[in-house]
Amino acid sequence: MAQVRVTRKERFNAAHRLHNPDKSDAWNRETFGKCNSANFHGHNYTLEVTVVGEPSPDTGYVIDLAELKSIMHERVIDIVDHSNLNLDVPFLDGVMPSTENFAVAIWQQLEGHITGGRLASVRLIETDKNSVEYCGE
Ligand code: NI
Repeated sequence: MAQVRVTRKERFNAAHRLHNPDKSDAWNRETFGKCNSANFHGHNYTLEVTVVGEPSPDTGYVIDLAELKSIMHERVIDIVDHSNLNLDVPFLDGVMPSTENFAVAIWQQLEGHITGGRLASVRLIETDKNSVEYCGE
């Protein structure tokens, strides 16, 4: 059976700050540099969600991409867009909003809500040069 990977890309922007309250201010400054800036900073994120499965004999789709778009908006984008990731997002409560942790949290938001195929990867691009990928392991 042909297993095909299907990807939908969405963009959003959000503010965050990397700060570990269990560590000293000096440790935080040294570890996170500008990302520790007290008044937060923003990113234009790109989120790529990949679903894998066999194309339906009726539609030829693994998942209708319009449906994947809606799921991504409902479960993630509409919650995080124009937000402060440290303060505003319930599913990141108590989570250090590094790109790594954010990608895992997005996976958890999406898992079980995908209506065709199965979730294969969450790729979160924070800058042109920095991105992470989580595949559920
Ligand atoms: Ni940052």
